[in-house]
Amino acid sequence: EKIIFSGAQPTGSLTLGNYIGAIQNWKALEQDYQCLYSIVDLHSLTVKHDAEAFRKQNLSFLVQYLACGLDPEKNIIFFQSHVPQHSELAWVLGCNTYMGELNRMTQFKEKSQKHQNNINAGLYTYPVLMAADILIYQTDVVPVGEDQKQHLELARDIAIRFNNAHGETFIVPEGHIPKVGAKIMSLQEPDKKMSKSDENLNSTIFLMDSEDVLLKKLKRSVTDSENRVSYNDEQPGIKNLMTIYSKLTGESIEEIQAKYEGKGYGIFKKEVAEVVVESIRPFKEKYEAYMNNLDYVEKIYQSGAERATEIAEITMKEVRNKIGLMPK
Ligand code: TYM
Repeated sequence: EKIIFSGAQPTGSLTLGNYIGAIQNWKALEQDYQCLYSIVDLHSLTVKHDAEAFRKQNLSFLVQYLACGLDPEKNIIFFQSHVPQHSELAWVLGCNTYMGELNRMTQFKEKSQKHQNNINAGLYTYPVLMAADILIYQTDVVPVGEDQKQHLELARDIAIRFNNAHGETFIVPEGHIPKVGAKIMSLQEPDKKMSKSDENLNSTIFLMDSEDVLLKKLKRSVTDSENRVSYNDEQPGIKNLMTIYSKLTGESIEEIQAKYEGKGYGIFKKEVAEVVVESIRPFKEKYEAYMNNLDYVEKIYQSGAERATEIAEITMKEVRNKIGLMPK
């Protein structure tokens, strides 16, 4: 059976970009494969945070995963920090990764540009921990958005290098990136990706946003003066809204274009907003239901950690042996 692994950082709260770029695919894959979906809490330590707020956010994130409809019986859903083999493998892989490779990571360059007062070593070696997340489970497929492509490529390179040096140890994973929706754009600057950490809150749709806020954000979203609902690079704001509409309704871009032929942006934006609100409504209901049943939620992540640890330890044993560490 194929193994699927993916994760999201519990920084802020899930966005519509996370949902369309990644989680929609996580859900699609759960039918046919053994999927592991992790809240990569250790990755979030690269930004400064308050411990108590972070603990709450971690729990909320797990509940947000469940509220997206991920099946807790089928999938292994867990906190990265509950499986210490991730960090252990990250050290080993770090010793098989060149600084030149990490220097090329565009996300590191962007993030260190943005947080000049906190360019820590964790931020720099972040992609190595991500490689460990993936390789420790002998993952075949990693469903992610466009922005993780480079990190995934590095994970593959590290796996191949390790296999060449020590003999076949890791499966070399493939990415699974959606054809449409792999990069949902900011509502305010449609040439930038929608991000959890955008300072302008109007740029980002959070799944936790109230209906009022959702409607307001979509109404204010930046478009252009063409007033023609058409899917092309000269109209990035409209293109983005069409993408969102298409991914949430399952209607093709052509169908949407035909439907709004001759109609202006006013009507289109209003209907996009309705689609978003309707799509998010069941999420909110599930979120509340799980939040009122935290005993069950706790069982989910405890059993997730147990099952994940079992798999991770098989790989880790082999790695320790292959690199010549003394058996206990
Ligand atoms: P993170 O937490 O930034 O995002 C989680 C997932 O959402 C996707 N995504 C988007 N997709 C489309 N449009 C957007 N605007 C958008 N923003 C985010 C991301 O591509 C990602 O799939 N480093 C990862 C977390 C991670 C991970 C891993 C992922 C750690 N270890 C192992 C896969 C496998 C990250 O920061 O994702």
